[in-house]
Amino acid sequence: MCSTVYGRLDATPYERAVDDYVASEGPIALAGLLANIGPSGSKSQGAKPGIVVASPSLTDPDYVFAWIRDSALVFKALIDRFTDGRDSTRLPLILQYVQSQSNLQNTDNPSGAARGLGLAEPKFEINETAFTGAWGRPQRDGPALRSTALITLANWFIAQGNTSYVTSTLFPMITLDLNYVATYWNDQTFDLWEEVQGHSFFTTAVQHRALREGIALAQKLNSTANVASWTSEAANVLCTLQSYWQPSNAFILSNTNSGRSGIDVNSILTSVHTFSSNAGCDAVTFQPCSDKALAGHFAVVNSFRGSLYSINSGRASTAAVAIGRYKEDSYFGGNPWYLATFAAAEQLYLALSTWNSQKSITVTAISQPFFAQFIPGIAAGTYASTTSTFTTLTSAIRTYADGFIAINQQYTPANGGLAEQFSKSNGTPLSAVDLTWSYASALTAFDRRAGVLPAAWPAAGLTVPSGSSCGDSSTTLSSVTFNVNAQTVLGENIYLTGSVAELRNWSPDNAIGPLSNPNYPIWTVTVQVPANQTIEYKYIRKNGGSVVWESDPNRSFRSATTGGSVTLNDVWK
Ligand code: NOJ
Ligand code: NOJ
Repeated sequence: MCSTVYGRLDATPYERAVDDYVASEGPIALAGLLANIGPSGSKSQGAKPGIVVASPSLTDPDYVFAWIRDSALVFKALIDRFTDGRDSTRLPLILQYVQSQSNLQNTDNPSGAARGLGLAEPKFEINETAFTGAWGRPQRDGPALRSTALITLANWFIAQGNTSYVTSTLFPMITLDLNYVATYWNDQTFDLWEEVQGHSFFTTAVQHRALREGIALAQKLNSTANVASWTSEAANVLCTLQSYWQPSNAFILSNTNSGRSGIDVNSILTSVHTFSSNAGCDAVTFQPCSDKALAGHFAVVNSFRGSLYSINSGRASTAAVAIGRYKEDSYFGGNPWYLATFAAAEQLYLALSTWNSQKSITVTAISQPFFAQFIPGIAAGTYASTTSTFTTLTSAIRTYADGFIAINQQYTPANGGLAEQFSKSNGTPLSAVDLTWSYASALTAFDRRAGVLPAAWPAAGLTVPSGSSCGDSSTTLSSVTFNVNAQTVLGENIYLTGSVAELRNWSPDNAIGPLSNPNYPIWTVTVQVPANQTIEYKYIRKNGGSVVWESDPNRSFRSATTGGSVTLNDVWK
């Protein structure tokens, strides 16, 4: 089928309406995105060169900050357009982004020291100084997303025969970020919505991708120093990635510790940002057309059907709806987001690209409910591109994908500006105006609709060890012995609790203990805890119903790598 997007002769009136929106909104999105980048973007006043202002909104909410995540996703979109030859003028701005990120890597901040723990600081002031207010930190997706943007650029330079800028500038920056990822990926993190501290699917997935492409880059540069550690950690991350899949309810758990349903556009964004054209419909990396990612898409979209958003309530049960972050969201009242709704379309365009190139669609028991939206009762099986089933599915799914674009189209104001959210009751724009990430998400969704794909990463043919050795937590635990010197009175005992489940999640009632005291006043216990993490804890005294905690601050230690052990010798405080 002809794939020229604009003015297709075979397009339906509905497709043509979406074509028109893509044609008019695309340039507005690009201009809107560039306006928010310093030093000379028209809405970037005060931003250093290459700094992305998340939104020019100064109050309610104040988004005049440079988030590492938003900036990396925005520049990834620009770098893709530059490296695929569509935007040859953009290199100077991209190099300014690189310099700005180097400056931020070298800035001490509340997450920690420059070039160390500070790499996961979520946001900075737009003049490149640290933001010192309270925030959900650290956010460990940042170093990974930044690496992915920089690696895409590095691969382009190498393809041009220019490795010197890569070895002198890009690769050292990438190495800092990837060493951070390899060391801390299994630590708790704030999620991409900056709300939940736990493990987050999006974060784990982008960390995995960054490590894999970093390994390939290092090999191209004959730099072997970190390849072994990145490789072994990438395997562990891939293993952990599998654990987010929830087989009994067929969805992808977005975060541990959220206390929510766990169904979240987090999973759709993940398949969009970890797509690789060489990986087919592999489920181990949750490719957009994998059965698990399609089941995830189905679960997320369904979670927004019905009366949650009144603008969705009249829509047919198999039509596109406006998509928010997650159904329990209450930020600005909890509304649909442009970037979430675009991502729902983008995952489907990516899936269509892969089905068309592999010339078949496979329906499994896991993805059947997704496909049954288009062919009720469809049987599991593989449908070749020569079958009418393939044609029916691809055309219906394309229309469905266009439906998400059409919703954003309906709620885009006349000037084409894209805020962060639009009202669930009447579709008017809400929260931050001119959100740079909204514009980037429009550009990438439009590109995928036109069949323009980002460069692949080494996602092809990855497997996880089957059975007991993958996903078995004993493969990621290490041992810690706690010794505390504490004088007690008769009837009083010493217990232990802390920040991970193995230390009973700060529960005084379920605290570990009483510790044993064969060498009183030393109380002792040995516990298995997640390997290679910073873990907080305190001892408590219990006597009958009374509980006395140690004084602040919390104690903390770094657990050993898998299978190792550490010993802590403390004195009650
Ligand atoms: C600001 C964060 O950016 C947003 O994601 C979050 O929902 C609110 N704070 C409330 O925690
Ligand atoms: C709030 C979003 O939840 C977060 O993901 C984003 O980084 C900031 N806003 C800035 O756009």
